[in-house]
Amino acid sequence: MQEKIVKMFDEIASSYDMVNRIVSFGSDKIWREKAIKEVLKYSKENPKVLDVACGSGDMIDIWKKYTNNIIGLDPSKGMLEVAKKRFPEINFYQGFAQDLPFENESFDCLSISFGIRNVVEIDKAIDEFYRVLKKDGILLILEFTKPEKKSTIRNCIDFYSNKILPKIGSIISGNKEAYEYLPKSIQKFYTLNELCKKLSKFEILEAKNFALSPTSMIIAKKN
Ligand SMILES: C[S@@+](CC[C@H](N)C(=O)[O-])C[C@H]1O[C@@H](n2cnc3c(N)ncnc32)[C@H](O)[C@@H]1O
Repeated sequence: MQEKIVKMFDEIASSYDMVNRIVSFGSDKIWREKAIKEVLKYSKENPKVLDVACGSGDMIDIWKKYTNNIIGLDPSKGMLEVAKKRFPEINFYQGFAQDLPFENESFDCLSISFGIRNVVEIDKAIDEFYRVLKKDGILLILEFTKPEKKSTIRNCIDFYSNKILPKIGSIISGNKEAYEYLPKSIQKFYTLNELCKKLSKFEILEAKNFALSPTSMIIAKKN
């Protein structure tokens, strides 16, 4: 299962950025920037950052405005190739969230955006995030979550995510399966509250849903 997911990202790597910008109407950049600015309220200046599931580097693109100490990690060779071309100055590792190739207490901040939903062994990954963060280190999760309860707005968002987005994504990328996986994986994933409960080792500092979007943000601290 995990191999199949990574292979899918390998296949869509070259069109991933373009699809993202189009289907989110550019709003993903706004969420990323807001989230990182929020993290910086709790973190030291120029933090040492690990971006897990970095993909083509969209979080790194924002992190690098605020720190010169960033490492990206992703299991997909295809996504990493795109990231390395975009950011030749950044160090990238090929690896999995559930088995991080870093020493204990190595990072001030760890981010994972739109990545944790793809990690099959999620509890193992959360233990790894805890292990590699320093004391007082900050974890940032951005992710599409299931709604706590249905509302008209959420029904509209789900209609877009389930019916329209997969069509646009599959036309641009030529990969129908990958973009059908997205809504299915959101339906199988947690609500924001359930995801917070998974982080029981951490202190939750902020947990919220962004308006008019299925995107949630969690900021948590290792005490
Ligand atoms: C939707 S992309 C997100 C990429 C990037 N973080 C962003 O915000 O655009 C999901 C990424 O998760 C990676 N991924 C899948 N399984 C993973 C795992 N077990 N550990 C770490 N990353 C994983 C994929 O290779 C892919 O690059």
